[in-house]
Amino acid sequence: MIKIAPSILAADFAFLGEQVTLAQDAGADLIHIDIMDGRFVPNITMGPAIVEAVAKLATIPLDVHLMIVEPDRFVQRFADSGADSITVHVEACPHLHRVLGQINDVGCRPGVALNPHSPASALREVIEMIRIVNVMTVNPGFGGQRFIGGMSGKISELRAMVDSSGSEIEIEVDGGINAATISVAEAAGATIAIAGTCVFQHRKGIAAGIEELRQAAAPTRKNACA
Ligand code: DX5
Ligand code: ZN
Repeated sequence: MIKIAPSILAADFAFLGEQVTLAQDAGADLIHIDIMDGRFVPNITMGPAIVEAVAKLATIPLDVHLMIVEPDRFVQRFADSGADSITVHVEACPHLHRVLGQINDVGCRPGVALNPHSPASALREVIEMIRIVNVMTVNPGFGGQRFIGGMSGKISELRAMVDSSGSEIEIEVDGGINAATISVAEAAGATIAIAGTCVFQHRKGIAAGIEELRQAAAPTRKNACA
């Protein structure tokens, strides 16, 4: 069954602790934290202090997604703050091999994210160093965008690459996930669905948002509603 990783980017920051607790009590598998620097992406969000605050109450892994330039400068900081996995963008790392080694050395699971234009083949030479691949299904920078349907071919390609590598690698899908798109991502081979808006801004609350995604992703889907 596909895992669900609520992205706190869409949470109400005035009640962040409460909202993270609600998400994990509702069965979230990981908490996804989007770090943006205003340079790699045209938005600024949060930094290590928020990861540290969330780590104090989280009982599930913290999946930290760095949308920043020169991520190597901050790997240690995020590890010290409580990140379980650290994902960097292939487009932000001219020395990707070195950064992945650095993440591993600080005791975190290394991940690589691919912007919509970046091909699956960009990971071929580092696949054995990776524990997570994040397939961006929107252009990173903002929550609430529409899922780019053309990305499912890339997810399938990565699924085949991961299977033939024999390594245990999660394939995340990130951006525009809702009750309609989660099944597309799962069918293509994703193992983790990252979802912000449809969890934290669900009209019936956070638990209902997670439940709706679970229902929609289940093979016998009856109650899926967009
Ligand atoms: C986008 C972020 C996503 C985002 C997903 O740059 O990486 O994690 O929060 O948000 P929704 O689910 O609203 O598309
Ligand atoms: Zn993200």
